[in-house]
Amino acid sequence: MAEEPDFFAPHPNPKPRVKNSMFCVVPDAFESKSISLTGEQRRKKESSDQSPSKSTDTVENGEPVPVEEAITQQDYVVVEAQPWDTSKHESAQSRLFIKGGKIVNDDQSINADVYVEDGIIKQIGNNLVIPGGARTIDARGKLVMPGGIDTHTHLQMPFGGTVAIDDFYSGTKAALAGGTTMIMDFVIDGKDMSLLEAYEKWRGWADPKVCCDYGLHVAVTWWSDSVAKEMEVLAHEKGVNSFKMFLAYKDLFMVEDDELYEAFRTCKELGALPMVHAENGRMIDVKSKEIIAMGITGPEGHMMCRPEEVEAEATQRAITIADQANAPLYVVHVMSKSAADIVSKARREGKIVFGEPIAASLGTDGTHYNNKCWRHAAGHVMGPPLRPDPSTPGYLMNLLANNDLQLTGTDNCTFNADQKALGKDDFRRIPNGVNGVEDRMSVIWEKGVHSGKMDPCRFVAVTSTNAAKIFNIYPRKGRIAVGSDADIVIWDPNQTRTISAKTHHQAVDFNIFEGLVCHGVPLYVMMNGHVVLDEGQLKVTQGLGQFVPMSCNAEAVYGRVKERERNNMPVKVDREAYGGPVAEMLMESLNDKQLESNPIIHDQQAFSGDQFDDKKPKRPQIRVGNPPGGASHGLW
Ligand code: URP
Ligand code: ZN
Ligand code: ZN
Repeated sequence: MAEEPDFFAPHPNPKPRVKNSMFCVVPDAFESKSISLTGEQRRKKESSDQSPSKSTDTVENGEPVPVEEAITQQDYVVVEAQPWDTSKHESAQSRLFIKGGKIVNDDQSINADVYVEDGIIKQIGNNLVIPGGARTIDARGKLVMPGGIDTHTHLQMPFGGTVAIDDFYSGTKAALAGGTTMIMDFVIDGKDMSLLEAYEKWRGWADPKVCCDYGLHVAVTWWSDSVAKEMEVLAHEKGVNSFKMFLAYKDLFMVEDDELYEAFRTCKELGALPMVHAENGRMIDVKSKEIIAMGITGPEGHMMCRPEEVEAEATQRAITIADQANAPLYVVHVMSKSAADIVSKARREGKIVFGEPIAASLGTDGTHYNNKCWRHAAGHVMGPPLRPDPSTPGYLMNLLANNDLQLTGTDNCTFNADQKALGKDDFRRIPNGVNGVEDRMSVIWEKGVHSGKMDPCRFVAVTSTNAAKIFNIYPRKGRIAVGSDADIVIWDPNQTRTISAKTHHQAVDFNIFEGLVCHGVPLYVMMNGHVVLDEGQLKVTQGLGQFVPMSCNAEAVYGRVKERERNNMPVKVDREAYGGPVAEMLMESLNDKQLESNPIIHDQQAFSGDQFDDKKPKRPQIRVGNPPGGASHGLW
């Protein structure tokens, strides 16, 4: 039998570059109305070391890094909407007037114009007074929507002895091409590693390369007091408000149930959101050995050893443990009908649970694992796997449309053919992961809106707004409103495009949605007011995106938790002490382990001065109320 794969491989660690940018919510930002901003600008760009002009000098592997547009980046300053200063060329460049479109937010759509200046939406309405020099974008017949937020990516993630081929440059460039203006990536390091160091490592990888804004979730892959302390630092000082625990990847990332409980408790104390990869890692370990022993080494084996029940069981277990910890829970990559049903049922029982299906689980299925072409089948390998039941994507979409599931990510973690081929003789060595970051918006529009399952407002909710609310960056992100970041997609619902690896912007050589014709195409994409997709032309700049700190205690997550905890607090029953007889404990029947863990003996030993490691035989000394021969209040 082949040796088991070593899934974790070190990755070169570029010098970390730490940035901080804090965000204060703009008063009135919820209101879709035209106002003059005279208050303090909430967003200050960071120091000049982030100027994108540097990226033209950037060299990687001896090659200059491609930069398709050098946008002049100025400091964001306090701006008054009136009177307009049109004297500076730079400010005119950063002024956009989006005219004639229909604004779609999660709760309403209205026909109105949008005026953007210095990366912020400054005015919304009709008959706006616009300064000279602003670029006008004709949005007639188009939808003006908040840029997408992908809650789940693994860009340049070290995995399975290789590194995901889409890095923070190609991944975020592709995201923008598809209408996603912010991603959330996962910091994942192995057991015994410092969470803080891992976080700095990911910042070091991402900051110089990101073309769009990004946030970070941090994985907890082991447990100790130091992990709890680092979680606190991450939450309080580093802009991390979510921690992911794995119930899969035994011996690598998987935590035990008691560790999961501790992590949930710590998240709850911090007001952070616990996330879970729900699959039973022990079952997968056993089943995969069985499948290999049967001589099944191809990608179909990956699916066979992870049946739907294995995802459902872990989902239920995580929900149960989170409930015991009085913590909310976010289930990442919901892949199956049964796991989705469990999330949905828990919500109906009043539990605070969020479910995240992904572009892959909504757009394709596990029948591809049976494809005769090895590369094709391996190209779909991810964990949990796509499900062989072809009605799964439609079912998940129904639940997403009706708020049984709440938001969408992609789990984008891509590997080229040669990387997947590490597992050509043993499916356990195939690096797990698929694409999605570029195509999520189109796939959900096609399968959700074009199919008639959801309206455009719900589309905005599940691709952007709910993510912003759950991860506490709303309404800076996730809304077209005065004061919000100008992360905007102008969407043409009448155009179509065909997804293909030949034309996509991702680095990976394969696309799980190959050939899918999607109605709904992004025509323009604005990221912080920069037009990065301009009439179909992509103009991105590496390093122009920023780390977005996400603070704890999101209203959408923790708004109900305190009251709930107060109401559910265990209450002691006041009663008379028991005064009847108590049996004598038969000490001989207890082995060493039982002696150590028995709380009554433990208490009584504290009285007597005995220690656990005292040599047997011990004389039983049990405090009883009524021993044979009469009442006693001492030890005997
Ligand atoms: O197959 C996957 N999902 N790869 C990325 C790691 C994870 O489990 O999210
Ligand atoms: Zn996962
Ligand atoms: Zn993932």
